[in-house]
Amino acid sequence: MEIRRVAVIGGGLMGRQIGLNTAIYPYEVKLFDLIPEVRDAVKKWEDEYLAGRIAKGRMTPEQVGGIRSRFSIVDSMAEAVVDADLVIEAVVERKEVKKAVFAEISSLAREDAVLATNSSYMVSSTFKDDVKNPSRLLNMHYFNPALVMKLVEICRGEHTSDKAVDAAYAFAESTGKTPVRVEKEIDGFLANRILTAINNEARKLVEEGYCSYEDLDKACENGLGHPMGPFRLCDLTGVDLALDVMTRRYNETGIKPAGFDMYRKMVEEGRLGRKSGRGFYDYEKK
Ligand SMILES: NC(=O)c1ccc[n+]([C@@H]2O[C@H](COP(=O)([O-])OP(=O)(O)OC[C@H]3O[C@@H](n4cnc5c(N)ncnc54)[C@H](O)[C@@H]3O)[C@@H](O)[C@H]2O)c1
Repeated sequence: MEIRRVAVIGGGLMGRQIGLNTAIYPYEVKLFDLIPEVRDAVKKWEDEYLAGRIAKGRMTPEQVGGIRSRFSIVDSMAEAVVDADLVIEAVVERKEVKKAVFAEISSLAREDAVLATNSSYMVSSTFKDDVKNPSRLLNMHYFNPALVMKLVEICRGEHTSDKAVDAAYAFAESTGKTPVRVEKEIDGFLANRILTAINNEARKLVEEGYCSYEDLDKACENGLGHPMGPFRLCDLTGVDLALDVMTRRYNETGIKPAGFDMYRKMVEEGRLGRKSGRGFYDYEKK
């Protein structure tokens, strides 16, 4: 199962970076996004990113020329997937949208093409009834920013063949990434589960009055060597996003997550983190 041509479906934050990273290594990549304005935005972003690499001396004009010729933004799903050996789905995190996208991919792609979802939380068996030959279906979970972050979690379901896992693993490695195998499906895979456990404990310690959030961050940064403590990191990713995740968990379990009231109050006050100029810490408003 040799991968040479890759299709990326979805050109948002993740899809465009996965696509461009893949073209750098050097695969033929076709990227499709449903929205024409997003397709235009990806071209502009690619131009700016590659011009920046030349300006910084990280790439030569010849290298950039090669990457440009291998990375195409196409106007239809069919064009993207028809000759792909691997299709990476990176559309919005909505189950019904992803199910429809997989059904469409399956009707247009080769029946032996490996199909991967970059979903943050949905395991690939969610889509196994939407595709023909689900033995080639798995998760390839990249991290943001995907041009920089090395980890790719390759998660198999009971339906996934060894051949598909091996092909995805070898592909990820050949694009400068550090793949890991997740041998059974689990919500959140590996790294995000560890992060969630740290966040839950950090919120619990602060909520129960054991320490301030500033001191909790200091403990993680200075005692554990984390580049950022959990509250400083939350300011970067968005307090509103963290509240969305906590709300979802609250609705699913009926158990109020630690720190829920504090986060809700912060969102009501517009303390969303760096993007609003204030979260747990104060920032200069952008
Ligand atoms: N943002 C992150 O930090 C991150 C990290 C890892 C994984 N993910 C996962 O990656 C996926 C994409 O996330 P994102 O942050 O890039 O989202 P995004 O909203 O930036 O991009 C999603 C893109 O999908 C496109 N799209 C929607 N329906 C489509 C369809 N039917 N066909 C083609 N394109 C369609 C949208 O136009 C949009 O451009 C999600 O599943 C998310 O959970 C995100």
